[in-house]
Amino acid sequence: MTVLASALDPASPEYADHRAAMLAKLAELDAEQAKALEGGGEKYVKRHRDRGKLLARERIELLLDPDTPFLELSPLAAWGSEYPVGASMVTGIGVVEGVECLITANDPTVRGGASNPWTLKKAFRAHEIGHANRLPSLHLVESGGADLPSQKEIFIPGGALFKHLTQASAAGIPTIAVVFGNSTAGGAYVPGMCDHVIMVKERAKVFLGGPPLVKMATGEESDDESLGGAEMHARTSGLADHLAEDEHDALRRTRRVVARLNWRKAHADPAAPVEPPKYDADELLGVVPGDLRTPFDPREVIARVVDGSDFDEFKPLYGTSLVTGWARLHGYPVGVLANAQGVLFSEESQKAAQFIQLANQRDIPLLFLHNTTGYMVGKEYEQGGIIKHGAMMINAVSNSRVPHLSVLMGASYGAGHYGMCGRAYDPRFLFAWPSAKSAVMGPQQLAGVLSIVARQSAAAKGKPYDDDADAALRAMVEQQIESESLPMFLSGRLYDDGVIDPRDTRTVLGICLSALHTAPVEGARGGFGVFRM
Ligand code: COA
Repeated sequence: MTVLASALDPASPEYADHRAAMLAKLAELDAEQAKALEGGGEKYVKRHRDRGKLLARERIELLLDPDTPFLELSPLAAWGSEYPVGASMVTGIGVVEGVECLITANDPTVRGGASNPWTLKKAFRAHEIGHANRLPSLHLVESGGADLPSQKEIFIPGGALFKHLTQASAAGIPTIAVVFGNSTAGGAYVPGMCDHVIMVKERAKVFLGGPPLVKMATGEESDDESLGGAEMHARTSGLADHLAEDEHDALRRTRRVVARLNWRKAHADPAAPVEPPKYDADELLGVVPGDLRTPFDPREVIARVVDGSDFDEFKPLYGTSLVTGWARLHGYPVGVLANAQGVLFSEESQKAAQFIQLANQRDIPLLFLHNTTGYMVGKEYEQGGIIKHGAMMINAVSNSRVPHLSVLMGASYGAGHYGMCGRAYDPRFLFAWPSAKSAVMGPQQLAGVLSIVARQSAAAKGKPYDDDADAALRAMVEQQIESESLPMFLSGRLYDDGVIDPRDTRTVLGICLSALHTAPVEGARGGFGVFRM
């Protein structure tokens, strides 16, 4: 056993400061997440309940196996936009009849459950996760279709929703639609494209056009039930496979459908029991300094996340600003890459490239723990080949085929975000801690660069430079970049899969590792681009 030692002192003033800063950020996060839980607000929630209906999260809860966790994804979608936080949809991973499933549920209390541009992005991300990890998908449908005022943003790209469903089906991944209410026009293709369809009696309405539209189009007189009621679809059109008496019955029937899928994961679950970390996860609150310019040792995080705090470090004496090594997490093998001093130099980049290739040879998923200000700049480093070495790392990350998990603990700036498997590098899952910040560079550096460029431009034109205006501009830019670097803002734009409490890191990653082992974990044997030497 190679158990990590800890130098963290929970009695120290630094620890208390870090913890206080993290708890303050968590409180802000809770307040924003509460908005997503409120859905459309008291009035619409009451109306929904008065109609005898369950809320989206209640439907999910009843669908899941008792006492199993639900990993909600993108709960802050649409944060900072003109649309309600949560984007009128709940998505996540949960266990149904012992099967890990991807679940989406419209929230009908938010503008009739209509899909706005952020709903679409959230649904697409959920589909991507379902497909990459081969998770059966369950869609709890009750939606007014496209959010009509924003149709220009969604109509054309939105068609991919139905394509994804049928492509999942073609790939042998089960798709199930449970219709609780409205699912008209384009929405009718959700049950239309799914392998299995359950509809709730007297509630489900699935038609291409409702009675007014039909009247306009053909002059035919009709009603909701004969055009698209659950009875009609179960007895006449054949679109529904199951006619449920009520919502509870629909959820019970859905569980039976999942039970009969004969679904098997590509990899057996690890042997139980697994050893918990030797150190308390609560101490993760005190690791990250409030000011990210102060470095911290990521081994303190690794020690509180991996099984038995047992970590075999790879090349510990070389490229020491990046910690690499092997561990297990809830029994699953992982290769960890974690930034230590913030900056990535040539040695760190080469070490990362080698480590990623090793993980691919051994079919071991990789975990990237971000706290980087990016690749080192300056004459010495440019002449030493930092571009080609950074490119090596980015090549390795891009062409690696083992699943990647990313957690933004602190800074994630510049190309360092890419090399550490940022969003554009398709990590299977990416989560941020409330302490994270991500942008092309730090706010002060960015404002400073803009100022130098403006000063040089004025000099080139022979114009005087207004120093007071420059100071005001710098302050404004700094503030803007700072606010755009924060996890809530980035999560709102779906640049991560959620902002998590550091204490939950092991649990969240454990759920992800279990889910991703539904699909075969196979590394690249070759298939990398040309490594510049
Ligand atoms: N786009 C934008 N807003 C919508 C919407 C849509 N597709 N569907 C509903 N809303 C809004 C309503 O205007 C209403 O807003 P308000 O309370 O501020 O007035 C709110 O959502 C709730 O709608 P309401 O009709 O009161 O709820 P309901 O539960 O009684 O009925 C629907 C829900 C979805 C059945 C009904 O709103 C409807 O038929 N919507 C249009 C469906 C449609 O044709 N969509 C186009 C498909 S591509």
